[in-house]
Amino acid sequence: MPAYHRLGQIPAKRHVQFRAPDGKLYAEEVFGTEGFSGNYSILYHLSLPAQTRRVEPLGSVAPRPWQERAHRHHHLRTRELKPAGNPVDGRVPLLFNDQVKISLATPVEPQPYFYRNGTHDELLFIHEGEGVLATQFGELPFRAGDYLYIPRGTIQLLRLDGDRGRLLVVEADGQIDTPARYRNEHGQLLEHAPYWERDFRKPERLEAHDEHGAGRFEIRLKILDEVYAYHVDHHPFDVIGWDGYLYPYAFSIHDFEPRAGRLHVPPPTHQTFEGPGFVVCSFVPRKLDWDPDAIPVPYFHSNLDSDEVLYYVDGDYTARKVEVGSITLHPRGWAHGPSAGAVEASLGRERETNELAVMVDTFRPLRLTEAAREIDDPGYLRSWDVA
Ligand SMILES: [Fe+2]
Repeated sequence: MPAYHRLGQIPAKRHVQFRAPDGKLYAEEVFGTEGFSGNYSILYHLSLPAQTRRVEPLGSVAPRPWQERAHRHHHLRTRELKPAGNPVDGRVPLLFNDQVKISLATPVEPQPYFYRNGTHDELLFIHEGEGVLATQFGELPFRAGDYLYIPRGTIQLLRLDGDRGRLLVVEADGQIDTPARYRNEHGQLLEHAPYWERDFRKPERLEAHDEHGAGRFEIRLKILDEVYAYHVDHHPFDVIGWDGYLYPYAFSIHDFEPRAGRLHVPPPTHQTFEGPGFVVCSFVPRKLDWDPDAIPVPYFHSNLDSDEVLYYVDGDYTARKVEVGSITLHPRGWAHGPSAGAVEASLGRERETNELAVMVDTFRPLRLTEAAREIDDPGYLRSWDVA
């Protein structure tokens, strides 16, 4: 979603002396991707962003793979996960490959340290809860139904009202963005895109925290699966101003404009984001398949080169025996589609759906984790049995 944004005070030119009223120089930081060739922003700090009192290795958070021998469809009942932890350490990895990791978090505690994912872009889907995502770019209020895009390297403090929430977390080994086919050559969203620039909320309320103390502030930095505690002497949100194209933003799934057709339209119509080796689609309430002979639930399909993950957010799912908070994994290599009897049951219904769901399709096979094994519903395979 490359679009220029600026907040706070910045000098008229880049790379020039920029001073506080007392004459002290602000520290300029270029925050960018792909060397110096990708999207970037320029931030002006009160203190030196490289300052470090000490670094403490905290170990690995690598997902523990489920050594499953069976290849099959899965239904994960995430409602069985016990709410625990904070918005960072409460993340429970469920599915992963070498490009993407999908976790679920149901935090019950405030985040006691700052967090920086040093290698992966993050996309958070806020299923339940509201609050403020505070970063060095300013504050971004969010509520249920929001996707929060957080570029790698962003220092984040997720403040949930009441410290509770339910978050689906997608970590990507590279840039998460809106699909290129929705944008013109200059980056602007096209008229046929299912959303517009004004739907994307940007950081606001930038406040430079002038707070200091030897090693007083802890930033947990994750590099791949290793976590390090950086202890620094200044508040990391000490930015007086910034501008550029790289920053966190919010987009509500309720602002996704659905597409429908006389006959069933396929999932790429609902695509919302893309990243290296995966796409994210939003299934939102909409009219359905109004031809009198149409079948208003999906046809059986074999995704020959993708694994399909669906997270069920709200509404009724006429095609499947799942519940709100369920995740289904339909891996490549075997067909999937409506539960037994679902096609027949759909024919006499209103041609509209109130379903709300987030889909993540990965192009490389996914593995499940030990945590996924604990909430796996082995009876899911029976949902295609004809009684
Ligand atoms: Fe599917």
